[in-house]
Amino acid sequence: MNSPQALDRSSRVYIAGHRGMVGSAIWRHLENEGFTDLVGATSSEVDLRDRNAVFDYVTSVKPDVVIDAAARVGGILANNTYPASFLSDNLQIQVNIMDAANEAEVDRLLFLGSSCIYPKFAEQPIKESSLLTGILEPTNDAYAIAKIAGIMQVQATRRQYGRRWISAMPTNLYGPGDNFHPEHSHVLPALVRRFHEAAESGADDVVIWGSGTPRREFLYVEDLAAASLFLLENYDSPETINVGVGLDAPIREIAERVAATVGYTGSISQDTSKPDGTPRKLLDVSRLHDLGWEAPTGLDDGLERTYAWYLENIDALRSK
Ligand SMILES: NC(=O)c1ccc[n+]([C@@H]2O[C@H](COP(=O)([O-])OP(=O)(O)OC[C@H]3O[C@@H](n4cnc5c(N)ncnc54)[C@H](OP(=O)(O)O)[C@@H]3O)[C@@H](O)[C@H]2O)c1
Repeated sequence: MNSPQALDRSSRVYIAGHRGMVGSAIWRHLENEGFTDLVGATSSEVDLRDRNAVFDYVTSVKPDVVIDAAARVGGILANNTYPASFLSDNLQIQVNIMDAANEAEVDRLLFLGSSCIYPKFAEQPIKESSLLTGILEPTNDAYAIAKIAGIMQVQATRRQYGRRWISAMPTNLYGPGDNFHPEHSHVLPALVRRFHEAAESGADDVVIWGSGTPRREFLYVEDLAAASLFLLENYDSPETINVGVGLDAPIREIAERVAATVGYTGSISQDTSKPDGTPRKLLDVSRLHDLGWEAPTGLDDGLERTYAWYLENIDALRSK
């Protein structure tokens, strides 16, 4: 069946950020789907903050499709410590990519944002319509404002130039290519590493932060890659669209499932003196489900595959 806006498998697709967790998953997915002309440049080849370099690259490559998976990303600590850099780098990266793509008359573009764009106290599950209805979480508001500007640039370019550009907001991601650094990683890869190291060293207890009751949603990154192609082929609207699983679980349960995946059999205790963060963060994915796409990978399956990737890459990761 041809989807409404099927992409020719010989189209030239430029994936900005193609070495990152998301960009590399999209690259693999498009290759598996038969795309034969994928292009990308590392940050040392083309610094996306350098407007002239981006324009030179995009005009020489002349892509048919652009997927923007490049960003300066980080956890709470990095976002909170370097807000000016998160705001400035991300604004520059996305404005340069989108302006260059517009000048090169690229008709298909997908901009990837993040669920942190939504207000801190948005009603759960979070609908796309809650955008700009309340204050942001202050620890990553600079990053969120940059991403909101990206959504606006997609909408404005559609309106002014009639291009079929779209934006999508993924929930928390995990999977191959994730950052497993002990202090600088997100919660799920941090748990994988801690439980793996505890199992290896024969530790009998692992302490997790907080009460364990906050609920979180996690999407396997390869599912996001599949959703990205699906949206380019089936979604053509100025409004952003959430990409998630539509299910969440308490952190305590997630920790137990990680422990089971890595073979850790000791106890898990909670340090309730540490903050819990927001009690729940779940995206409403009914817009995506109504289009006919649901995430195929369950958490246990995704954890198995993530752990297998972690074990294969453990030597390279230890040095980071
Ligand atoms: N990870 C998550 O849980 C999550 C959740 C929701 C949304 N997202 C979104 O997904 C996107 C990608 O995130 P990710 O997790 O894949 O991040 P990542 O693994 O850190 O990858 C970021 C990519 O951006 C590139 N990049 C950063 N600064 C650059 C610069 N100045 N010039 C050129 N390239 C630059 C990096 O290129 P090099 O490798 O060549 O340096 C890298 O390939 C972001 O927009 C993020 O908001 C991520």
